[in-house]
Amino acid sequence: MADRTAVVTGGTAGIGRAVSEGLAADGFNVIIVGHNPGRGERVARDIQDRTNRGHVEFEAADLSSLADARALGERLVRQHGRLDVVVHNFGGMYADRRVTGEGHEATLATNVLVPLRLTLELVPALRAAAPSRVVFVNSDAHKFAKPDLDDLEAERFTAASTCTPARNCSSFWSLDALVSGWPTAAYPCSWSTRVAPGPSRSRR
Ligand SMILES: NC(=O)c1ccc[n+]([C@@H]2O[C@H](COP(=O)([O-])OP(=O)(O)OC[C@H]3O[C@@H](n4cnc5c(N)ncnc54)[C@H](OP(=O)(O)O)[C@@H]3O)[C@@H](O)[C@H]2O)c1
Repeated sequence: MADRTAVVTGGTAGIGRAVSEGLAADGFNVIIVGHNPGRGERVARDIQDRTNRGHVEFEAADLSSLADARALGERLVRQHGRLDVVVHNFGGMYADRRVTGEGHEATLATNVLVPLRLTLELVPALRAAAPSRVVFVNSDAHKFAKPDLDDLEAERFTAASTCTPARNCSSFWSLDALVSGWPTAAYPCSWSTRVAPGPSRSRR
């Protein structure tokens, strides 16, 4: 069925690439998102050749940027109209405190803020394809974290902190499990799933 369309963030390598290949092999049109256009175009062609089903294309975006997430979402809705599946696969996990160009702690930005921003932008296309699905790929690391919900941006982080930005942010992985039904609650078009792949040797 070549009329089903999926978006996979971080779809050019690792787990995201494997997910993209699986979806393409199942006949989905797949849009893989990454920030390296050279690699992205090459991987899209490669998946297309290997699966020979559906249509595979690449979209460039910096998935640490809310502005890029908004622009990407607008483009996807304009170009595709309906989206059956969105897999938020990309998420950085940084042991030190890194800040994005927009001033957010990078683990928080890439795992929480950007995926939610992008999902909100895509709601019209998810609604058009209802029943659609939003998948958050994250981690079970939250089981080992003691989150500081008063310091979501990890501004109090020091090298001696017991709570690194990654551990702090990983609390969201449990939070998004709690709110995993939010798109359904907010918009009766889709439902969301949270998956934790576990340790994976994702680099070829
Ligand atoms: N691997 C594990 O053991 C493991 C365990 C638990 C959970 N997870 C979770 O599984 C997910 C995937 O993990 P992985 O190890 O497969 O990831 P990975 O290999 O580190 O992912 C690389 C992908 O992310 C893209 N990417 C990197 N920075 C980006 C940016 N700023 N903007 C847009 N795209 C960017 C890369 O695109 P380019 O090609 O353009 O660089 C590439 O497609 C993550 O959410 C991770 O937390 C992984």
